[in-house]
Amino acid sequence: MNKIIAVASGKGGTGKSTISVGIGRELANAGNKVLIIDCDSGMRGVDIMLGVSRNLVFDMADVVSGECEIENSVYPCGCGGNLFMIPAPNDADDELSPNVFRRFLEAVADVFDYILIDSPAGVGSGLKTAVSIADMALVVCNPEPASLRGCNNVRRILLENGISNIRLIINKFSERSFIGMSFYPDLDAVIDETGIQLIGIVPEDLRMAASVQSGVLPEKSSLAKGAFERIAMRIRGEKVMLPF
Ligand SMILES: Nc1ncnc2c1ncn2[C@@H]1O[C@H](COP(=O)(O)OP(=O)(O)O)[C@@H](O)[C@H]1O
Ligand SMILES: [Mg+2]
Repeated sequence: MNKIIAVASGKGGTGKSTISVGIGRELANAGNKVLIIDCDSGMRGVDIMLGVSRNLVFDMADVVSGECEIENSVYPCGCGGNLFMIPAPNDADDELSPNVFRRFLEAVADVFDYILIDSPAGVGSGLKTAVSIADMALVVCNPEPASLRGCNNVRRILLENGISNIRLIINKFSERSFIGMSFYPDLDAVIDETGIQLIGIVPEDLRMAASVQSGVLPEKSSLAKGAFERIAMRIRGEKVMLPF
């Protein structure tokens, strides 16, 4: 089972946090106990997207420094009592080492069916820590050249860290922009350039993005929500046709 899943990308702003929240909610709505860990020290935003930022007192750095117990840093986020999150340290200097993060995760892993790790952008030490105990990685890209180049570098780091179960999510896809900008002849060319097997395409959906940024649930009819649902089903091992 793919239990600990790192969500990564080379470039910032591809949609890692939005996707962690979107997929986390769908896994939780399907009855799984889900933990989202914000690993973007100094840039944390998952708490805002899950509407719990006002409740925060402790984060991962406080647990590691002995300031609080782990359970004090785990915040419930709705979805029928199935969704929880742990905030990243507010201070970028409090980035955890891979060993400390691994011990931290081992202490909470048994309680959850799925753990999603929202990784920092890039291929630096933050990514290496975030993926240190993952058994699957979702690489998020946007269908444009600079974003795809980052995917190759992330894929290399993942492989170097022993993660071979890697899947691609193409986010913010708009058919009109894709054809209009004509960077690539088709989506196969995008996938080929990353060298990563596709698990889903999330459409550009400004209303969903606005809801998530405001910490409220996206509408049921939202296009992106449907894509999150299908990706969550694939993660759960269900056979769901890819969109093309
Ligand atoms: N599918 C989407 N459609 C439209 N906007 C999106 C989508 N996914 C993310 N966004 C927007 O893109 C920006 C970056 O998203 P975010 O999840 O914070 O990226 P990252 O965590 O990779 O830095 C945000 O403004 C977010 O609302
Ligand atoms: Mg983010």
